[in-house]
Amino acid sequence: MAEHVWIGDLREHVGKDVEVRGWRNHLRSSGKLHFLEVRDGTGTVQAVVFKGSVTPETFEKAGTIAQEATVTVRGTVSENPKKPGVFELQAKEVELYAAPAREYPISPKEHGVDFLMDNRHLWLRSSRQNAILKVRATIVRAVRDFFDGRGFTLVDAPIFTPNACEGTSTLFETDYHGDKAYLTQSGQLYMEAAAAAVGKAYCFGPTFRAEKSKTRRHLAEFWMVEPEVAFMDLEGDMKLAEDFLAFIAQRVLETRGEELKILERDTSKLEKVIAPFPRITYHEAIQILQENGHPEAKVGDDFGGDEETVISNKFDRPVIVHRYPMELKAFYFKKDPANPSLALNMDVLAPEGYGEIIGGGQREDDLDTLVRAIEHHKLPMEAFEWYLDLRRYGSFPHAGFGLGIERTVAWTCGLHHVRETIPFARMLNRLSP
Ligand code: 4AD
Ligand code: MG
Repeated sequence: MAEHVWIGDLREHVGKDVEVRGWRNHLRSSGKLHFLEVRDGTGTVQAVVFKGSVTPETFEKAGTIAQEATVTVRGTVSENPKKPGVFELQAKEVELYAAPAREYPISPKEHGVDFLMDNRHLWLRSSRQNAILKVRATIVRAVRDFFDGRGFTLVDAPIFTPNACEGTSTLFETDYHGDKAYLTQSGQLYMEAAAAAVGKAYCFGPTFRAEKSKTRRHLAEFWMVEPEVAFMDLEGDMKLAEDFLAFIAQRVLETRGEELKILERDTSKLEKVIAPFPRITYHEAIQILQENGHPEAKVGDDFGGDEETVISNKFDRPVIVHRYPMELKAFYFKKDPANPSLALNMDVLAPEGYGEIIGGGQREDDLDTLVRAIEHHKLPMEAFEWYLDLRRYGSFPHAGFGLGIERTVAWTCGLHHVRETIPFARMLNRLSP
């Protein structure tokens, strides 16, 4: 009995008889030969079916296998003499496990994005989508390795929450045993509690925004990693963020060269992601806008995607923009003691027009100031009593940030839209498949 092996492991089996199981990619025939390309998720292999090496029934059947039929091929592994590193299977037996009930809807011709998104459950099988899934998995692993390796403790934040973290306009409301609950926008407030328990905490999970935006950077459901560190200030936060991004870029370059090639990613751009990153103030960012086609930009403006692109295009690596006006920012930021109209916050903008991938900063640790901020933002005080306790019982300076995984994957892979960075995207007009 030939052993079942994954196509990605064929190099270890050259000269041996093995069994490969997978789906039919391409099929080409010429007289006495069928070239049957099989995909199993770990790679693709061409099985050469020679009329003289198989039974007449097998040869005939192999020539009619439809796209995406499931097949089992047994044969001898060989390395392509003209293409080292490319392996083939000299087929001895070909079995059809399941023929498609209908013609596969995704043919090699070009399809529109809506059609592909409607068929996302099948589109995932394509080589580009396979490469993106693998880069995403590598980034998730890098995230965990980075924080675990620095003595952080993973602390999971809840998904059902009683209050808003990032403004009330993007809350998904749900019924919670007769009460109102919201899907979490961010685990930050819980990580602040965790920081007082474990010092260096991080959470990593799905977060939700009922954003009515149809941009290439917004999802309704996205994954965010959020470190929070006791006794860290804004300066330490910026340092942590740049070390973190450099670590991720390096890991992807080291381990996902094949996938980046499939995605036709210009890797020289990722090689430049080395700390330290340039740092500019919000006011300097406004000046860059004014000097680069946005003469109307003025202090007090928030940045949209276009503005972030103009700013980040000035730099060849991620740029940190810090100290935005308090009025633009969430209630929890600490005010800059040097100018209380500014927040001790920072955004990291990715290069090549990818925009904000990290947002964070230092938190307000003064009880009375925080109470006034909650009032100013017209948030329900009683929902924040537990959060205020963190200032009542041993208040401490602390800072943290959130990195959006999908925007990071889009940037790393060089993708135009975040919809391809998450297996099943949830967007303004999409809840299916
Ligand atoms: O800037 P945001 O809203 O920050 C927070 O939620 C903080 N509470 C995080 C913290 O300090 N612990 O979001 C952080 C990041 C953004 O920079 C972006 O990468 C991503 O989350 N993000 C989104 N990604 C996809 N779709 C959306 N609708 C996103 N909103 C934010
Ligand atoms: Mg932000």
